[in-house]
Amino acid sequence: MTNVLQLIGSALWFILPAYVANATPVLLGGGVAIDRGRLFWDKRPIFGSGKTVRGFVAGVIAGSLVGGLQGILTGQLHARLLLGLTLSIGALLGDLLGSFIKRRAGIPRGRAAPGLDQLGFLVFALLFALPVEAPNWRIVLILFLITPPIHLGTNFAGYKLGLKNRPY
Ligand code: CTP
Ligand code: MG
Repeated sequence: MTNVLQLIGSALWFILPAYVANATPVLLGGGVAIDRGRLFWDKRPIFGSGKTVRGFVAGVIAGSLVGGLQGILTGQLHARLLLGLTLSIGALLGDLLGSFIKRRAGIPRGRAAPGLDQLGFLVFALLFALPVEAPNWRIVLILFLITPPIHLGTNFAGYKLGLKNRPY
């Protein structure tokens, strides 16, 4: 039991910058869309108006700051800062790719794509962080198990707090 809890703790510590990067645009996003309203070949939005430049940049900065803070707390500033940056860029690119796939599938902005919404950002955060630090397989397994409920829980909380229009 303590082993599992320790593992969950290590997993959360590792992935924290990606979670923060993914949540920040809900608070600080808005303004110009990354696709600037342009349509793809299928005449549907490339990413949609929910993916903004400000949200992306704010997410990368916030996630990197969290990584830097983790580095200060543990005396591994360089490694954690780099991890924060790669996890954050990966998380936001994964989120963007998720929206691209949703639009191609005809799912409008803001509508749910179960699985993709909760795990797309995680897969890319892990891939981008891989050259900096490869977490062991048990941490990765834990992350795939705990991220969907955490994502759904925080989105629901954001909805209840009036930060989001939809509970997912
Ligand atoms: N957001 C943003 N910029 C980003 C990502 C997110 O501004 N790069 C903001 C938008 O206000 C968005 C909110 O965060 O509505 C929630 O993000 P998400 O659920 O990923 O977007 P959706 O609006 O649900 O759009 P999609 O269907 O494309 O996922
Ligand atoms: Mg959404």
